[in-house]
Amino acid sequence: MFHGNRILPLVAVAGLALGGAARAEPTVEVLHWWTSGGEAKAVGELKNSFEAAGGTWIDSPIAGGGGDAAMTALRARVVAGNPPTAVQLKGPGIQEWAEQGALNDVQDVATAEDWDAVLPPALAAIMKYNGNYVAAPVNIHRVDWIWANPEVLAKAGIEAMPTTWDEFNAAADKLMAAGITPLAHGGQPWQDATIFEDVVLGVGGADFFRKALVELDNDALTSDTMVAAFDQLRKMRGYVDPNFSGRDWNLATGMVMRGEAAFQIMGDWAKGEFLAAGKVPGKDFICAPTPGQGFVLNSDSFTFFKVKGDDNIKGQKLLASLIMSPEFQKTFNLAKGSIPARTDVALDAFDDCAKLSHADLLKAIEADTLVPSMAHEMAVSRSVRGEFLDLVTEFFNSDMSSQDAVQQLADAVKRAM
Ligand code: GAL
Repeated sequence: MFHGNRILPLVAVAGLALGGAARAEPTVEVLHWWTSGGEAKAVGELKNSFEAAGGTWIDSPIAGGGGDAAMTALRARVVAGNPPTAVQLKGPGIQEWAEQGALNDVQDVATAEDWDAVLPPALAAIMKYNGNYVAAPVNIHRVDWIWANPEVLAKAGIEAMPTTWDEFNAAADKLMAAGITPLAHGGQPWQDATIFEDVVLGVGGADFFRKALVELDNDALTSDTMVAAFDQLRKMRGYVDPNFSGRDWNLATGMVMRGEAAFQIMGDWAKGEFLAAGKVPGKDFICAPTPGQGFVLNSDSFTFFKVKGDDNIKGQKLLASLIMSPEFQKTFNLAKGSIPARTDVALDAFDDCAKLSHADLLKAIEADTLVPSMAHEMAVSRSVRGEFLDLVTEFFNSDMSSQDAVQQLADAVKRAM
């Protein structure tokens, strides 16, 4: 034990005596919106690995599911010329910031670790700008899930998870008759948009989803299929409790846990919440894809902003390398409810919902039914997404007809394009 206690301080003192600057230590300030029980546990894994590798982590959490508040805070920081070192940011947002010249790349890390060989090409493309990695993906979340409390279902005589929207409605009607809230929902625009896009996939299929919510095709947006999707959403409005407005998503998950509601339609970050509360998948809660064929993709990633200083640059590189390490991808995703972004991490330690997610992902890639989430910023620009959120929320909270909804939606999208 010669180093550490005795020798290192001497070296440091000698360095200073000779006028040398202290060695830059990797430092990151991380802006994220992971503040719920499951989310905080998952991001804690990243902080721990970073600190264990000798880095200094400055935490900048901005509460608010779906990240809308975090994105507003990010904008203010960049405008003030003081961007965070790393930001939880994804999808086309990465490209938007890169085009403004706001990002650093971590291509040297990606080359050294051959990220191209271990990431699905579609995901790698989202992380790159001009051929260089400017972001690192932590996971693959699936948006089209229904979570349920099996005891509550049994009470109402519901034997299986619904596989069509008609079955969902029939189950919900039974629950209503038994005096149980069918759907735990939080009335916030991103949550309304989450259930909306799952319904669009179920009612219209993956090709329709792509045409309407990704390509923004006017015929698809004004079609009878879209009217049918809004009709289903209208039905679901009738299945939520009177206090749904403004409720955070994790509080809705809590309602299912406690048996105050039967179902929640939410991405698998909800599973992170069940797990953080000590609930056992397959016993205390069950999962099934929302009715329909396909997979709505949402991948979280950290993006590296243009910051100066050796400590920050070192911090970005260390963070990028840790995020992509197979061990981290495993521990993080076990807590987060998602599956690893890397394709070479074994899923043995994961639960059946995660294994189903992985199997369905492969099937969806094969069948070309993998679609990017509109609600979770994987599909369209922020301004177009904003129009979807506004209209869907207005519909959910009024008696607007489905016909009016599709027309107003198509007009708003056109204006924002
Ligand atoms: C999503 C994000 C997830 C999850 C969720 C709720 O957009 O991708 O990681 O945390 O928001 O905050």
